[in-house]
Amino acid sequence: MAKEFIVPNQIFTGPEALEASAPSLAKMGKKALIVTDEVMRKLGNCAKVEQVLSASGVAYTVYDGVNGEPTDRMVDKGLDIYQAEGCDFLVALGGGSPMDTMKAIGVLAGGGGFISDYMGKVIDVPMPPMAAIPTTAGTGSEATQFTIITDTKRDIKMLLKGSVVMPDLAIIDPQFTMTAPPSVTSSTGLDALCHAVEAYTSRKAQALSDTFALSAVKRIFHSLPQAFADGSPEARIEMSVAALEAGVAFNNASVTLIHGMSRPIGALFHIPHGLSNAMLLPVCLRYALPGAYDRFAQLGRAIGVAQAEEDDPSAAEHFLQAVESLVKELKTPTLAKYGVDKGTFFAAIDKMAHDAMESGSPQNTLRSVTEFVVKELYAELW
Ligand SMILES: [Fe+2]
Repeated sequence: MAKEFIVPNQIFTGPEALEASAPSLAKMGKKALIVTDEVMRKLGNCAKVEQVLSASGVAYTVYDGVNGEPTDRMVDKGLDIYQAEGCDFLVALGGGSPMDTMKAIGVLAGGGGFISDYMGKVIDVPMPPMAAIPTTAGTGSEATQFTIITDTKRDIKMLLKGSVVMPDLAIIDPQFTMTAPPSVTSSTGLDALCHAVEAYTSRKAQALSDTFALSAVKRIFHSLPQAFADGSPEARIEMSVAALEAGVAFNNASVTLIHGMSRPIGALFHIPHGLSNAMLLPVCLRYALPGAYDRFAQLGRAIGVAQAEEDDPSAAEHFLQAVESLVKELKTPTLAKYGVDKGTFFAAIDKMAHDAMESGSPQNTLRSVTEFVVKELYAELW
C-alpha cells in the first residue's frame, strides 16, 4: 500500500540557521505573532528573532504566555492577540509548548470555533503560514502534523492532527539549545528517543520513517550522554538534528504505547512530557519487546550493543538494557521521587488507562495492548 511522507516545506539546520532563514521568514507575511514563553524573553532569545524580523522589514507582536504545558486557555489568549494585532502569520520560539500552542492558534485563526471542536477529526482548514524555532532538542514538534493541547474542562490532553498543522518552515538553530539545564537536556532528549524507538516499532512504520528513526536512535545514543554530562556544543548540535529526525520519523509512523500512556500522566499530574515518557520508557519497552524482537534487535545492532550474528530476542534484550542504563545515567526520577502521591496515582489509573486507549496510540504497538494491560503497566511504575 502506498504511504504518504510529510515534512516541513523548508528546513534550516546548523549554526546561524536563524539568520539564514531571514529571507524565507520575510516571505511569510507582513506581521508575525511570535508565540513563546517568559524564559525565552528573559534569556534574550526572543530578541534575536525580533531582530531578524525587523531587519527583514517584518512587523511583529509577542505573546509570551505559554508558561507550562499548553492549554485551551493559552490558545484562546494567543488567538485574541493574533486577531487584535492584525497578524497574518505565526512564529513559535521555544520547546514543544509554544510550538503546539502556535499550531492551535493557527487552526482557530483559519477555521474558527474552539480547539476542542477539532479533537478526533483530521484538521483541514486554511492555515496562516507557520515557522517553528525549537529551543530544546526533543519534542520534534517543528516537524509534526500534531499538536497536544490540554482541555482544562475535561483534564485530558487532546491529540489534534492534520497535515495542514505541519509548520511551513522549521529553523533548527542549535544556539538556542546551548543553555538548557541538564534536567531539560535529559527529559527532552529521552522524549526524542521515545519518538524514534516508537516510530521504528510502530505498526505504521514505513521505509522512509525507518531511515529517520534509525539515524535518530544512533545519534541519541552517541551524543545524549555527553550533552547531559557537560553540555558540549558538538553533542548539542547532534542532538538538535536527532530531535528533528525523530520528529520526522514519528510524524510519519506515529507513536505507540509510551506516548499513549504518557499524555494522561501529564494531564493529571502535570509532569513535563519528556519526563513522564522517560519514566515509562523501560516498562513499556519491556512489554513491547516480544511483539517485535526483530525490530528491537535491529536497533540493538545499529547502536552496537548487539552482534550481527546474535539472535533477535537476545539482540533486542541488549537494546532494552542499553535503554535502561541510559535512563539511569540521565538521572530520570521515579514518580515517587518526583513527588507524586501513590494513592492519588492508583485512584487515577482507570481514567488514565481509558484516556490512553482512547488516543489510539497504544494500539500502534506491535504487541497487542488492552486497557487491562495499560492498567498493569501504570501499576508497575511503583
Ligand atoms: Fe513526545
